[in-house]
Amino acid sequence: MLEAICSHKELSLTGYYPHVCDLIDSDKLGELKQITHHISTTRFQHCVNVSYYSYLVCRKLNLNARSAARAGLLHDLFYYDRKEYNSSRSRGELSHSAMHSRQAAENAAALTEITPLERDMIEKHMWPLTRPMPGYRETYVITLVDKYCAVLEFCVPKLKKAAKAFR
Ligand SMILES: [Fe+2]
Ligand SMILES: [Fe+2]
Repeated sequence: MLEAICSHKELSLTGYYPHVCDLIDSDKLGELKQITHHISTTRFQHCVNVSYYSYLVCRKLNLNARSAARAGLLHDLFYYDRKEYNSSRSRGELSHSAMHSRQAAENAAALTEITPLERDMIEKHMWPLTRPMPGYRETYVITLVDKYCAVLEFCVPKLKKAAKAFR
């Protein structure tokens, strides 16, 4: 099953899937299934969440939904440990926010062809924590969807646990 958080749709049966099917099954994306992200999910699932909801929002707004789906899936394509990076980082080195988005863009470009729009979405998805400003409307979408998904990923498991306790 390929699902996004708070959706019960089988994504491989939707119009979203053809835009990302070449990436979803790649080994590089597969490695993200082993990495915990936002405490209660995997980095792979987080990327699927951001990809699917960015796709839906961009489609609704008549923006480039295909690029939103692809950039969303690739926006956190990095493999280093955030805590280790922060603890060994010296003054003047990039923050984790800037570093991981830059690395994700490089890893994405090594994996597939990315358009200038997709690069902008990946490199600037942490805005406003990082500079410069987004260059496309789609980039504003991914910055918002990324934060929205992070909140859902953190809260939904806790709410489900609380609901079970009241049954
Ligand atoms: Fe990120
Ligand atoms: Fe993210």
